[in-house]
Amino acid sequence: MGKDVIVACDFSSAQQVFDFLDKFEERKPFVKIGMELFYAEGPQIVRKIKKRGHKIFLDLKLHDIPNTVKKSMSVLSSLDIDMCNVHAAGTINMMTAALEGLTRDDGSRPLLIAVTQLTSTDRETMERDLLIHDEMDKVVMHYAHNALTAGLDGVVCSPQESGKVHQECGNSFLTVTPGVRFKDGDAGDQKRIMNPAEAKKAGSDYIVVGRPITSAADPVEAYERCIREFVD
Ligand code: C5P
Repeated sequence: MGKDVIVACDFSSAQQVFDFLDKFEERKPFVKIGMELFYAEGPQIVRKIKKRGHKIFLDLKLHDIPNTVKKSMSVLSSLDIDMCNVHAAGTINMMTAALEGLTRDDGSRPLLIAVTQLTSTDRETMERDLLIHDEMDKVVMHYAHNALTAGLDGVVCSPQESGKVHQECGNSFLTVTPGVRFKDGDAGDQKRIMNPAEAKKAGSDYIVVGRPITSAADPVEAYERCIREFVD
């Protein structure tokens, strides 16, 4: 599995996402479809983007009882996506069920990764709201180990955690990392950030980049810059 840049297409309508993707003539970026676009447009949006030749990371972060997650994953698998995710907090049983549901009759399946702790949750919130008293680092690594035990392919984490995840879970366990900004760019609401070259050095397998590309004056050039810094 090669390194790649995943473009977070955080748009609220099909028209907006197609206007954006139309700018890319030759390259077909790996795109991330999140809840907003999926709930607005339904599964059809996945089929339409797929038909245009893009790989798709469907970022719906499933978290429910194992049986429900298994059946839902089997529906998502029929959409011919390339990557999807669950919350590791759903437990090892739930992640195992997700993997079973995702596996097609011929044994093939999309990549399945786990969200450890959301980057919007800090230590204080985790302690107060979730009654988890360990250090964030320890919690993230514990969830990564659970995902590995369940047979998942990797985790979503900060690029700053990629090295440690690989060290503890192996180099083939994927790290998919948002929180990427250009050296000379605006951090916005992201706190633990790295630029694409640093994320490459840290060992991230995929970077997920949204606004630095979607809000750029020249989105294609911004995407190409990510490719130059992270992949080439
Ligand atoms: O615009 P920006 O580059 O910050 O977009 C990052 C993308 O990654 C968004 O779609 C966001 O929802 C997602 N994400 C994140 N942090 C996580 C998980 C997902 O920023 N921990």
